[in-house]
Amino acid sequence: MDDYFAIDPIRDLDFSTRSVRSGTDRTNVGEHGEAMFLTSSFVFRNAAEAAARFGNQDPGYVYSRFTNPTVRQFERRLASLEEGEACMATASGMSAIMTTVLALMKAGDHMVCASAVFGSTYQLFSMLSRFGLQCSFVSLSDLSAWEAAIRPETRLFYVETPSNPLTELADLAGLAALSKSRGISLVVDNCFCTPALQKPLLHGADIVIHSATKYIDGQGRVLGGAIVGQRAFIHDQVLPLMRTTGPSLSAFNAWVLLKGLETLQIRMDQQSANAFEVANYLNQHPAVTRVHYPGLSTHPQHQLAKTQQSRFGAVVSFELRGEDDQSLRSRAWSVIDATRVISITGNLGDTKTTITHPASTTHGRLSPQARLDAGIGEGLIRLAIGLESPRDLCTDLARGLDGVEP
Ligand SMILES: Cc1ncc(COP(=O)(O)O)c(C=O)c1O
Repeated sequence: MDDYFAIDPIRDLDFSTRSVRSGTDRTNVGEHGEAMFLTSSFVFRNAAEAAARFGNQDPGYVYSRFTNPTVRQFERRLASLEEGEACMATASGMSAIMTTVLALMKAGDHMVCASAVFGSTYQLFSMLSRFGLQCSFVSLSDLSAWEAAIRPETRLFYVETPSNPLTELADLAGLAALSKSRGISLVVDNCFCTPALQKPLLHGADIVIHSATKYIDGQGRVLGGAIVGQRAFIHDQVLPLMRTTGPSLSAFNAWVLLKGLETLQIRMDQQSANAFEVANYLNQHPAVTRVHYPGLSTHPQHQLAKTQQSRFGAVVSFELRGEDDQSLRSRAWSVIDATRVISITGNLGDTKTTITHPASTTHGRLSPQARLDAGIGEGLIRLAIGLESPRDLCTDLARGLDGVEP
């Protein structure tokens, strides 16, 4: 076998070509579809070969906890699409985040994270002090707050852009310039855009994280995650951790995700177009006070979105009119409950549109203060728009919205 992290040879081809062809590693039977290697371990010809594989003198496969040929095809394809040198796949987005933090930090170190991040990410970083690691939370879009939070022991900056669920943007080039000048690694969760719409490494980020569960699968079937970055980081810091701690992606899930990458661009383009229509409908509805969608000219970072993303993505959040938390929650729940087409579920990134009340679900474990800091109120609803007709989606939302007193 060649070097596990060898750069894919078709890097010079277009994104759409690489989406379906990068990473392909045919066996000698010449299969056209990528082979699924459902095997926990690999057989050696003799004891000496086993010893050489375990000792890393022979680059062949040993055990699927750390390397597997199907997983490798997914890793090489995603590395290529993100314009990164290497990738390591993980069992979920959260395990990718956890592994990255463990790879970059040691006891006594500090990190800075945007307060507007996915609820479990916030929970994980809040828990780090138990292990001697510190995390400060700052406003995603306030560069001076990031600078002020830096300490001599700061090792990493962590952002999602656009953020979940408020679609707030980080200025990637600005954050990258600051982090580079202070020797800090910039880690970007590219879940909402995927490389089809945004390539953080090209804006100066050091590491890209994925919850492949979302748009990379795109059809709500499997969990998965990935870490993309420089070869030295992936090979020297991430791989040994994977080998020892084991949050590995299964070969079956890697195969499903490989198929997901093949249709990523066309799904992201169409779902973004559908989201734009739904966002415009919500924007003119009297029961809605605010729509969070980077594609609207009213979004405070619309211009930034135009410069660092090729489209605006498919997540749209909106806030309902209401007097107090109790009435806001009951209105939000009644809009959600009135839907017939849209699925009430916590996932996003599916071809089927999903609807969520973040304050009582994805961000329900946050303290009321942390939720307030993150801007997640009781009247907020998150939509992740899929491939249905936008007209049908608007009719589905109108059923509940038209019943809300303006
Ligand atoms: C932005 C973002 N990052 C990470 C995660 C975690 O991913 P997973 O559910 O695959 O662990 C999620 C899940 O919703 C997410 O929305």
